[in-house]
Amino acid sequence: MAFVYKADPVRGAEWARLFAAKAPEIPFHIWPDIGLPERVRYLAAWTLPEGFERQFPNVELVFSTGAGVDQFDLSKVPPALPVVRLAEPGVVAGMVEYATMAVLALHRDLPAYIEQQRQGKWAAHRVHAAAKRRVGILGMGVLGRAVLTQLRGFGFQLAGWSRTRHEFEGVTCYAGESELWGMLAATDILVCLLPLTSETRDILDAKLLNALPRGASLVHVGRGAQLDHQALLDALDSGWISSAVVDVTAPEPLPANHRFWSHPRILLTPHTASMTQPETAVDLVLENIRRHQAGEPLAGLVSRDKGY
Ligand code: NAP
Ligand code: GLV
Repeated sequence: MAFVYKADPVRGAEWARLFAAKAPEIPFHIWPDIGLPERVRYLAAWTLPEGFERQFPNVELVFSTGAGVDQFDLSKVPPALPVVRLAEPGVVAGMVEYATMAVLALHRDLPAYIEQQRQGKWAAHRVHAAAKRRVGILGMGVLGRAVLTQLRGFGFQLAGWSRTRHEFEGVTCYAGESELWGMLAATDILVCLLPLTSETRDILDAKLLNALPRGASLVHVGRGAQLDHQALLDALDSGWISSAVVDVTAPEPLPANHRFWSHPRILLTPHTASMTQPETAVDLVLENIRRHQAGEPLAGLVSRDKGY
C-alpha cells in the first residue's frame, strides 16, 4: 500500500514529513517519484495525470488537494473510484479570513480610498452601519457557511443561495434559480463561493450583475470561469457595480495587458484567497483512509452527478 502526492512540491515535502510521523506504515511518494505503480492505493493531486487509472491499476481512493474539484475531468475517472475533496479546517479558516477581509474592505470603501490616496485626494465617504449592509453569498457549502458564521458577528444583514434549501440562523436562505433574482435585488455585497460546474460556469454575467442594486459590489472567490470579465468591466465603468475584489480569473494568470490589473475599482489577488494547510489536510486524508478501510462514509466525497 502506497500514497502518491502530485501537487505543489513545497507543501508536498510537508505532507511527507507529516505522513512519516503520523502514518509511517504508508510509503509516501511525491510525483514524479511514484515507487512501484501497482503498490499505489491512494492518489492526491491538484490535477490528475493523464491515464492515471492505467498507470495505477490498484488505486482505491483519489483526493483533490484543493477544496474544489473542477480541475479534475471527472468523466475520465472510473465511476466506481471514490473522489474526495479537501475542505479541511485550514482551507476553511483561510477563506473565512479572506472573504471577511474583502467584505469589510468593500463595506468600508477601501477601493475608493486607495484610488483617492493615489490622487492625493482627502475626501470622506459616509460610514454605513453593518446592520444596514446586505451581504449575500452564492454557495452555502462548507466555505459559504463558515464565512456567513463569521460575518454574522459584525451584524450584517445576511443572505445565502444554494441549489437545495438550507436553514441557517440569522441568514435569509434562497434556493434554486427561481429564487436567485430576489436575493440579488436585496444584496449590496455579493460573494461568489460556488463550485465550478456546468450550471455555474459564466454565472456572474451581465444579467446577474444588473440584477444587483446600483452601487453594489462583488467578491469573487469561486472559480475564474464563473465570471464574465467584460460584463464586470462594463458594470464597473458604468458605475452600476462600484467595486470588486477578484481572486480567481480565467485564465490564470491574467495576460499582462488585461484591464483587471490596473482597474482602480478592482482589488486583484492571484488565487490565494485560501490554500489547504498540510497539517489539517493530512489529518483529513488519513481519517478518510481509515474510513475507507473500515467501509465507513467518506468526508468530502464528491458527487459525480452534481460535479461538486
Ligand atoms: P461545497 O461544500 O460543495 O458547497 C457548494 C455550495 O454551492 C453548496 O451550498 C451548493 O448547494 C451550492 N451550489 C452548487 N451548485 C449550485 C447551483 N447550480 N445553484 C445554486 N447553488 C449551487 O463547496 P465549498 O467547500 O463551500 O467550496 C466552494 C468552492 O470554493 C470550491 O468548489 C472552489 O471552487 C472554491 N474555492 C476557492 C478557493 C480560493 O482560494 N479562491 C479556495 C477554496 C475553494 P447545495 O448546498 O444545495 O448542494
Ligand atoms: C483552491 O482553490 C481550492 O480549491 O482549494
